[in-house]
Amino acid sequence: MVPFFLKKALSKIKHPLPTGEGYISWHARVYGGNEGGIEIGKDSYVARDAMLDCRRNGRIVIGSGSSVNNYSWLCTQKDGGFIELGDNSLIHMFCALYGGGGIKIGDDCRIASHVSLIAGTPLFEGSGKIRGQGATYEGITIEDDVRIGVGAIILDGVTIGAHSIIGAGSVVTKSIPPNSVAVGNPARVIKERV
Ligand SMILES: CC(C)(COP(=O)(O)OP(=O)(O)OC[C@H]1O[C@@H](n2cnc3c(N)ncnc32)[C@H](O)[C@@H]1OP(=O)(O)O)[C@@H](O)C(=O)NCCC(=O)NCCS
Repeated sequence: MVPFFLKKALSKIKHPLPTGEGYISWHARVYGGNEGGIEIGKDSYVARDAMLDCRRNGRIVIGSGSSVNNYSWLCTQKDGGFIELGDNSLIHMFCALYGGGGIKIGDDCRIASHVSLIAGTPLFEGSGKIRGQGATYEGITIEDDVRIGVGAIILDGVTIGAHSIIGAGSVVTKSIPPNSVAVGNPARVIKERV
């Protein structure tokens, strides 16, 4: 068992991958980040036990002043998959981002814990096996200054307009206009921010 003081010291060591000016904890899991696949901007950090996975030529780009917290999982899934996080945005703990179709998160966003963004939908034609049928990919866009509540699920093809709030536990299946408050499953706009 690793003593606590050693764990604490190790958690402050920067990850050896050359990933830009930001900081990835040595304790984060990073896969496929060589050759410019991962870029972390100034004053941004990826916490210990977070995972960045951009195998198969994916790309993860994080702007400046942003963070990805413990146990969050960012995976680009396939060739050309990507996840972009803007400036001063925050992904809390235990989030799952499936970036196959591409996920763009703007500036000043807050993604609360246990949120899932799933940029891909499996194909399930006929009554045969689903496995092996592949998936469709449209991508997800979260515009600037959006708040997504704890445990929300955002499905593929959705754009959440700037300055909007998504309620805790909502399932967002269709795009949400800017300046909206949307809640529920499926998420519906309950008010506009004036
Ligand atoms: C979306 C939210 C901001 C709405 O707050 P609000 O504007 O004060 O909304 P109200 O409490 O007036 O609720 C309005 C209606 O929406 C419903 N509602 C509110 N939040 C809801 C939610 N997350 N899911 C489903 N329904 C919800 C209310 O029950 C109410 O319904 P009614 O009119 O039938 O009684 C808030 O409920 C929420 O989900 N906050 C997220 C908290 C969070 O995850 N924080 C992150 C911490 S890092």
